[in-house]
Amino acid sequence: MSKKKSRIVWIVVLAVCLGGGLHHADLLRAAVATNPGLHSPESVGRGRDLYVQYCQTCHGADGRGGGPSAASLPTRPDDLTVIAPPPYFPDGVVAYRIAHGVDAMPAYQGVLTPEQTWDLVNFIRSLHRED
Ligand code: HEC
Repeated sequence: MSKKKSRIVWIVVLAVCLGGGLHHADLLRAAVATNPGLHSPESVGRGRDLYVQYCQTCHGADGRGGGPSAASLPTRPDDLTVIAPPPYFPDGVVAYRIAHGVDAMPAYQGVLTPEQTWDLVNFIRSLHRED
């Protein structure tokens, strides 16, 4: 496993361990949630459109975290092309992060429907590259 990937794994493990209270239960439930989107090309296409509209400004056109708004943030947006695949970083946890946000990452719960969130997860998976 690469250094970057193992860092992401540790972030997830830490998040699960330190989540506490409601978040803890929520995150555990999220981790086992099944992605209903089946990674179809249609879903990935919808996810790409949503990504351009909502996410590109921070995560960048190529998903690597260098969008125009990234420089003004206290933390650099994650490189979405190296997010560890399941089982390290399950789809449900990626969806949870999009819905609930973390630090400078906004929460999209009230903005996106669950279906749109899964479309985004499927698009993010399509960006995956080995480094
Ligand atoms: C205002 C800038 C901003 C926007 C807009 C934004 N993000 Fe993020 N995102 C961040 C930052 C910063 C982080 C890193 C947060 C941290 O770990 O502290 C992040 C992290 C993430 C993560 C990884 C979370 C983790 O736990 O590793 C995912 C997945 C993600 N963003 C997806 C999205 C998607 C999908 C959208 C669009 C719906 C989006 N982001 C829009 C700034 C942004």
